[in-house]
Amino acid sequence: MAKAKKMTAFFCQSCGFESAKWTGQCPACKEWNTMVEEPVRGKTQTGTLRRSESAKAVTLDEIGETEKERTDTGFTELNRVLGGGIVPGSLLLIGGDPGIGKSTLLLQVALHMAESGKRILYVSGEESLSQIGMRAGRLREKISPEGKKNLFFFCETLLSEIMAAVEEKKPHIVIIDSIQTMVSEEVQASPGSVSQVRETTGVLLRAAKETGTTFLIVGHVTKDGTVAGPRVLEHMVDAVLYFEGDRYASYRILRGVKNRFGATNEIGIFEMQGDGLSEVQNASEFLLSGRPKDASGAIVSCTVEGTRPLLVEVQALITKTNFGFPKRQSTGMEYNRVSVLMAVLEKRLGIPMSEYDAYVNLAGGMKQKEPALDLSVVLAILSGYRNVAIRPDMIAFGEVGLSGEVRAVQMTKERIREAVKMGFTTIVLPKAGLTKIGEIDGAELIGVENIREAAELIH
Ligand code: TYD
Ligand code: MG
Repeated sequence: MAKAKKMTAFFCQSCGFESAKWTGQCPACKEWNTMVEEPVRGKTQTGTLRRSESAKAVTLDEIGETEKERTDTGFTELNRVLGGGIVPGSLLLIGGDPGIGKSTLLLQVALHMAESGKRILYVSGEESLSQIGMRAGRLREKISPEGKKNLFFFCETLLSEIMAAVEEKKPHIVIIDSIQTMVSEEVQASPGSVSQVRETTGVLLRAAKETGTTFLIVGHVTKDGTVAGPRVLEHMVDAVLYFEGDRYASYRILRGVKNRFGATNEIGIFEMQGDGLSEVQNASEFLLSGRPKDASGAIVSCTVEGTRPLLVEVQALITKTNFGFPKRQSTGMEYNRVSVLMAVLEKRLGIPMSEYDAYVNLAGGMKQKEPALDLSVVLAILSGYRNVAIRPDMIAFGEVGLSGEVRAVQMTKERIREAVKMGFTTIVLPKAGLTKIGEIDGAELIGVENIREAAELIH
């Protein structure tokens, strides 16, 4: 007897890996207990391309002018993360924890774009019309009666209904809030499962490329920090933006992790207020607000996110160890990196770090991996250890190598400029980076070759 065709497969809910049999651990991403049985469908729909009139290979010459006009979102911070605005026909994913402000941001963007004449379809599978209406009334974006005619709301989760509405209203921009609530009848799996998310995104992708409509998709992030069915989603879409930040603090960071139309790693900084999100224009000032003057164990440094220099405060609390084993903690920076820097201090400057507990912190809840922070970590620890405050107008950046040498970092000029703009007058930086800089008005540049030279600046 012929074997019945198998209609289900096991999908990893974390990375989307598909397997014919169940396994306790996903072979692809090594997560445990993430394989879930879901119905599968024929390979024909999302898997293969449809042959159409336009399906022929073309030369670069025939493509011609490729840069399309971008749509202003109303937020310069968001425009920058996107590489200058929304590109028509693109598919963008906005991920983040529930309650972080994704719906708020997109509703504000929708109100702004509708006011400037774009037709918007806002599809919500999570909120009712009255809830959206109430929220829209509270936001700072005010909309005229003409603008209101451009903005359509649709509370629906069925993909076929949504596509029919797109066909009928012919919007420039469609907002899908959220992809985890959307259902395609073609797939029997429950909403939010890997096969549903993959299928619905596939349909939206095709619609975006064929009609030139832009789709902004909201994706909730699961507790381990990934959007459900995320890696599947991430490589299908044109850009992935993550909205992060402490739910209990007011500011939010929008980070571009993938962008086919601009630089990645750009960030935008927003603040959640009573009337929605407002952008923080001067991020350095915001991050340094509340900085204590004359406290030991703290120094300002300059990191670069994408193309933007940002001033951050590095803090170190150094106390004598009570037990034989020193305690170490780092917040906002990589623990291992900080441990290495402490070992360098011990070896090269003879500081007995193993007798001290060390708590190193990047103030303001920022997270940074840039090696350019090394020098400031070293100086903050030294200042904490010697219990002498660093001059409040001093700033330091540079990578520290294992021999204690201070190495050049990229975008030196931009960092200096940002520091000067924020009123810092003494800038400690790698000597190697100094050669191309020349004189800078209003700032004293101190080039150091190794951490011993830098350490002499703290007394
Ligand atoms: P929301 O946009 O609903 O989050 P998401 O769509 O990412 O789940 O964000 C809601 C949070 O923002 C909620 O906790 C209330 C807060 N909020 C404000 O503080 N001010 C406002 O003007 C709005 C609309 C929301
Ligand atoms: Mg929401």
